[in-house]
Amino acid sequence: MGARFLTLNGDCRTQIGSPEWDEFLDGRKFDCVCTDPPYGIAFKSTFGKDPIAKEKYQQEIEDDQDVETAIATFDEAMTALAPYLADTCELYIFSKWTVEVEWHEYLRTQMPKFGIELFAKLIWENGYPGLGDLKYNWGCGFEDIYYLKRGLRPVPSRRVGVIHVDKVRPGTNVHPTQKPTELLKILLSYSCDPHSVVCDPFAGSGSTLVAAKELGLDSVGIEKDTEHGYFETMNERLRVGGLLDL
Ligand SMILES: C[S@@+](CC[C@H](N)C(=O)[O-])C[C@H]1O[C@@H](n2cnc3c(N)ncnc32)[C@H](O)[C@@H]1O
Repeated sequence: MGARFLTLNGDCRTQIGSPEWDEFLDGRKFDCVCTDPPYGIAFKSTFGKDPIAKEKYQQEIEDDQDVETAIATFDEAMTALAPYLADTCELYIFSKWTVEVEWHEYLRTQMPKFGIELFAKLIWENGYPGLGDLKYNWGCGFEDIYYLKRGLRPVPSRRVGVIHVDKVRPGTNVHPTQKPTELLKILLSYSCDPHSVVCDPFAGSGSTLVAAKELGLDSVGIEKDTEHGYFETMNERLRVGGLLDL
């Protein structure tokens, strides 16, 4: 039997523990959480000049208005999720250098209340300077990925924490902050066994679930948006496999 997945449309803080969620898990717990929550940077892509492209690419992200709101939302999500994490669980949380002081401090000091410890920060080198502000020379070209653990799952092998995978280029993406499945597959493959279950409570267009499916892992994804079609896109990507996996 292929990988099974559950997608839920709504706020993860209320969807976690819903009857559908409990029925899908059937007592199993998550071995890995891989998520790209709102960072709290009021992100809005600058890609797209004409009104149609602007409408498609320059969409605001829910709960992203400021770092305090983003961290508070994440903390409530973690409070709901913590009882569903296995005794040995690994977590990957995407972030960005402009809010790293707040996120680093939050993860270092608050995750222990869930029995989770911050272990490392990985760098995703994304091979692209970004469209950003042309007033200065240096484009960012990377994002942070915090790596945390509950319990001590044995380490199968160690690799350097700088990972190069090209970004999904603006114009080919199906979500404004879409992460490449190739990158997510690298992360999951370091933290999952063949029977692991993966969770992404801020699933967007479902990239984590697509990666899990391609690795044969069961997964659950939650997406709050009802306006821009991300939830439908996630389901479509999972249904058609690689076709929308740009
Ligand atoms: C940074 S994006 C994730 C994009 C994803 N990595 C992808 O590749 O498509 C964060 C997503 O979380 C969603 N979101 C924000 N607040 C949420 C909440 N409280 N519950 C569930 N989803 C939420 C946003 O609508 C957005 O699509």
